This record gives sequence, C-alpha cells and structure tokens, in this order.
Amino acid sequence: MKHLIACAVSAWLMGTVLCAQETDRITGSPSWVIPAPAGTELSDGTFMIPETGASFYIKGTSTDGLAGYLEGLPLSLAQASGPGKADVLIEIGGKRLQDRNPESYSLEITPSQIRIKAPAEAGAFYAVQTLLQMTREGKVRQLQCCRVEDSPRFGYRGLHFDVSRHFRSKEFLMKQMDAMALVKLNKMHLHLTDGAGWRIEIDKYPELTGFAAWRPYRSWQEWWEGGREYCTQSDPEAQGGYYTKDDIREILAYAAPRHIEVIPEIEMPGHSEEVLAAYPELSCSGEPYKNSDFCPGKEETFTFLENVLAEVMELFPSEYVHIGGDEASKSGWKDCPDCRRRMQEEGLEDVDELQSYLIHRIEEFVNSKGKKIIGWDEILQGGLAPNATVMSWRGTEGGIKALKSGHDVIMTPASYCYLDYTQDAPFKEPASIGGYVPLAKTYSYEPVEEGVTEEEAENLLGLQGNLWAEYITRDSHAEYMYYPRAFAVAETGWTPAGRKDYGDFRERAIALCDQLKDMGYTTFDLRTEYGDRKESQAPVEHLAKGCKVTYNIRYTDQYPASGDGALTDGICGGWTYGDLKWQGFFSDADVTVDLGSVKPVHYVGATFMNAAGAWVHIPQKMEVYISEDGVNFRPAGTVWQDISEKHDFIFFKQYSVICNEKARYVRIYAQRAARPGACLFLDEVIIN
Ligand code: ACM
Ligand code: ZN
Repeated sequence: MKHLIACAVSAWLMGTVLCAQETDRITGSPSWVIPAPAGTELSDGTFMIPETGASFYIKGTSTDGLAGYLEGLPLSLAQASGPGKADVLIEIGGKRLQDRNPESYSLEITPSQIRIKAPAEAGAFYAVQTLLQMTREGKVRQLQCCRVEDSPRFGYRGLHFDVSRHFRSKEFLMKQMDAMALVKLNKMHLHLTDGAGWRIEIDKYPELTGFAAWRPYRSWQEWWEGGREYCTQSDPEAQGGYYTKDDIREILAYAAPRHIEVIPEIEMPGHSEEVLAAYPELSCSGEPYKNSDFCPGKEETFTFLENVLAEVMELFPSEYVHIGGDEASKSGWKDCPDCRRRMQEEGLEDVDELQSYLIHRIEEFVNSKGKKIIGWDEILQGGLAPNATVMSWRGTEGGIKALKSGHDVIMTPASYCYLDYTQDAPFKEPASIGGYVPLAKTYSYEPVEEGVTEEEAENLLGLQGNLWAEYITRDSHAEYMYYPRAFAVAETGWTPAGRKDYGDFRERAIALCDQLKDMGYTTFDLRTEYGDRKESQAPVEHLAKGCKVTYNIRYTDQYPASGDGALTDGICGGWTYGDLKWQGFFSDADVTVDLGSVKPVHYVGATFMNAAGAWVHIPQKMEVYISEDGVNFRPAGTVWQDISEKHDFIFFKQYSVICNEKARYVRIYAQRAARPGACLFLDEVIIN
C-alpha cells in the first residue's frame, strides 16, 4: 500500500503525476522537510542507516567539493568502492536529465538503497539536504521508503546580511550558510558598506578599513544617538571590523560547495557617510561629516567607485554586484557647483536624473567587466539603467514596473520580507525597528503580483529576506530574527504555490527550529507565539461607533487608515502602524466626534502607539472637551503622559477620561511629544 501525500507535481518530473491526500506525518519521511518538495510519494518499508555510518558512491560528473562535503556530514558518510555496494548512490548528469533544472533532483529510498539522480551537482546537493532534514542531521536512522521528485519554483532564493551596522565574523556567515543550504536558500546578499562602517579590504583605499570601519561605539544605536563619528583602528575605543581579502576568499570557499552565491553590495550614492568621512573630497562639500551622498558631479567619485568595484568584482565570482541606490538624500546636489555643471553638461532635469546618470555610468562599467548590477528600487528614479536588476523593497510597485519594462526583479517587500521587523508581540520581543512581520505574514507572500502576466513573470528571479541590523548587536539575536522566517522565504522560493499550506508549514517549522537549536543556533520559539494585538482581532462596540468625526487637524495622507471614519469604525490596530488600522498625524491630533444627539457620556478614551525607532511617540497630554451644541465646549478632563522616557520602544498607552456628563459633541486634543519629528498614531476614539 502506498500513502500519497503530494499534489500538483509537474508531469515532466520523471514522467509521473502524483496526487494529493492527507496522511499522518511519519518520522524520517519527506513530509517533515522545508521547503516542501514539489512531489512526494511514500511507500512501505524503511531503510536503516547503519550505526557505523552510510557509504556513498558518486556516478557521473561532480567536483571534489561534493565528496568532501558528504564526508563532513553528521551522517558519517564514507565513500563506497562501487555503486552496488553504496548505501547512497548518487548519479549526476546523463543524457536523460540534461534538459532539467540543474537544481532539481529525484530521491528514492528503498529498503536496500538510497538513490539520488540529478542533472547537476546542485540538484544532488539539494537531495542530500532533504535527507539531512529527514534524518534530523543524523539523529533519525530509520527512513521511510519514498520517492521525492523536486525542483525549485524560483532560481533566486536569498537572505540578506547587514554586516555594516554591526560587524559579524566570517565564522558567523559560514554558520548561516549551513542553515541556508539546509532549506535550499542559494543567495547570500552581503551589505558590506553603509554609514555605520565599511567592511571590506580595498587595496587602493586603505582608509576605508583603517578608519571608516571603526567607531568608538559598540552598538549602532549609541553611535547613531552619539556623535556618529569614526575612529582609527588603533583607537583604544575602536569597535567594528572588516573582512580582509583572504577572509572573503575563505567565505567564498565555504559557499561554493554549498551552492550559495555570495553577492556583494557596495552602497552608492547614499548611505555613504563612512566613505565621505575618510575621503571627503568625494562629497559635495569636500568636508567630512557633512554629506551622506557621493558627489556625482566630481570625476573623482567615479574613479573611486570604479576602482573599488574592480577589486570587489575580481574577488567575488558572482555574476552580480549590488550597487545599493536606496534612500540617497541628494540634499547636497542642488547647491553643489560640480553637480550643477554635470546636470547642465548632460542635460539632466533634476537630481533624480543625476542619480540615474550615476547608476547608468556605473552599470556600463560593471557590464564592461562581464557582470550585472542589482539595485534597490530607487534606481528606477530618473530612468532605469538598461540591464539592471531591481530589488523591490518599498512595496511591490517598483518591482512590477521593472517587470513590465522587461527587467529582472527580485521581490523583497518590507511588509513581508523585512526580518528586522518584530515577529511577535513587542512586549515579549527584543527591541526592534518596529513593524510586525510574523512567520505567517512572511509565508503568505506571493511573489507573482496581481497584474503581472506570465510572460512578465519570467523575469521574476525570486525573493529574498532582509535583516537590517540597526538594533541587532548580538549574533544570537540575528539568528533569532532569521529563523524560522528564513524558512518561509525558502518555501515560497522553492515550493509550487499550490502546495503551500501555512498550518502544515508551521508544524514543520517548529520541528526544524528544534533541529537548528540542536545544531547550536538560536531561534524564535513558535510554541510561545502570542500573535497579533488582541484588540485588533474583533471590532469593538461603543457609543461613538459609526459616528461622524470632524478633523480640526487633518491626519496625514500617508497613514489614513480607513479615512474620515477610521477613528469610529470599531477597528483597533495591531502591533504596527503600517497595518492600515492606525491613523497617523505628523502634528497634534484634534478631532470632534458627533454622537448624533445629546447622550450620557461616562468614558472617553483613545489608545496611542509608541514606536520610538520610527519617531512615533505617545502624546504629552490628551485633553477632552464636551458640548451639547458643537459651539460651546467645556473641559471634561486631561490625561498626561506619565511613563518614563526609558520606555523607549514599542508600546501602547490608553489615555482615558472618566466623567459623568451629557453631550452630543466630544472633542479630543492630543499634543504630540516634544521631540524632533515626533508623530502620533491612534486607532479609535472610544466613547461610552
Ligand atoms: C532599504 O531598506 N533601505 C533598502
Ligand atoms: Zn556635488
């Protein structure tokens, strides 16, 4: 008898179509694997991995890397003398498989042998990763007989590492590669440069690593709130670091047999304070600590960028170099004589076109070396460089636009793929930049957006999870943020969309987190997940629900929630002001609610959010006024901000006044915090 648990597998996979049926999950079977294989068929019987370890034999074309990798695994694999004698027989290549995706594989487990067939070494490697999960890294020795036919949905399945905000050792990166490989993630995006520190040795510019890589503050937050200055490596206070070229070679040598492409990012023209402190002649002002953007008017800027990129491209085998392109302030460009001259000479209308000029020129240089650029979606501003790949992070519009103009795209929309956002209730999580991206949200992402045609989607390379590290000082904290959400990125990138099922995935994710913990990783604990803010999960009934609100000060169009009715729609917000339930004010808030007729009023309250990392602060005070006629108001009470300033991160405070009044009109006036740029967010004015 056979238990069929797979569905929707392409007929071309070994010429078989398998169909779906639920079954209990069996230990040592592929039904535990992340990402879920495209097709799985269980059969009777088991294969026992010998106590002394299993033997393997590789038939066909492979590098020494695969054999060396297998010998180092916890399965104690050793080479067998011939194919018939091997416990694990791996066949790579062969005419019949040559048209298949090189990352695809088949895995057959019979009582006498484990057989892997793959068109290329990458596929064989992924078959072994499936086995590693089935055996829980060698702990489970009895494997269920089965056949797995597997192939990825997308070729780009990435994870991003911000080693600028907090430097991480090469050992940390290599450790993460093992976890990445286990879930078949194949691109490591290294964000090597940013204002917080330069992290790669460049022979031509020694100040980048002698000065721009060091700061007299351990944490990004202390540096950001302190002087934002740098120091020399020899300074006794120096914190930071960089990868030497030999370190990079070591990282790359570890990545290659794990089939991980390491993509370096060198930021330009923005996020470059550290370079401009070391080489101020590359900025518009010519002075250190004045600008964050390179000056595109100066030829020296291009000489520098091309020299740096030449060394970087020589070092990394990746076909890509990521050139950043995000969040340039461009603030110095308008008044810079060099920038103005450049704009005049090149016929550039505005600073967006000046940025586009820089990106085009850099692309030409990178293309001339046989490589391609990736840039954040701001590289669309002023006109996209002809061969650029767009990484869409500010939502998906940039990615969709790039796909529609025939460009390659990698999707990484912040509201699904930013792993620096809090993954659970902020009161139980480490301080973070804010947001709320639980595992379910990351998992729910569908990269082929509505309105994208099948033909356009051919240029959609895949997706990536990003971990910006402003608030992540410790390695263990970084791992906690990656896992299990990186598993969701992996499954969306690999598994056919129709096979995805969150409930099933969550169970597998709990088990894989346990496996990673056994392997020495820190992970988030899904078993104690709290979930979204309870208030947001059901409408609240109150006297003012559905009543008209007059805005004496209007909310910002950036965060309207449901618009003019948002504060009395009965809908309360979740853990993030970005969930379209919180209404935002870049000012004080001042609204009047009309109850429709004079009614007894005993309670007037509103909840405000605090997310200090995003300049969201609870108000200094909230005043409540009431009126029968809408003209003559009298005070009903004032509530003060009475929480210590030390409560710095995400929390919620309810401001409420208890009274014993009769009124038709209720006005609340909330005065924002006395901090630069402070804004207010509230979700509902509750009156009873
Ligand atoms: C980004 O998050 N600034 C790409
Ligand atoms: Zn300039």
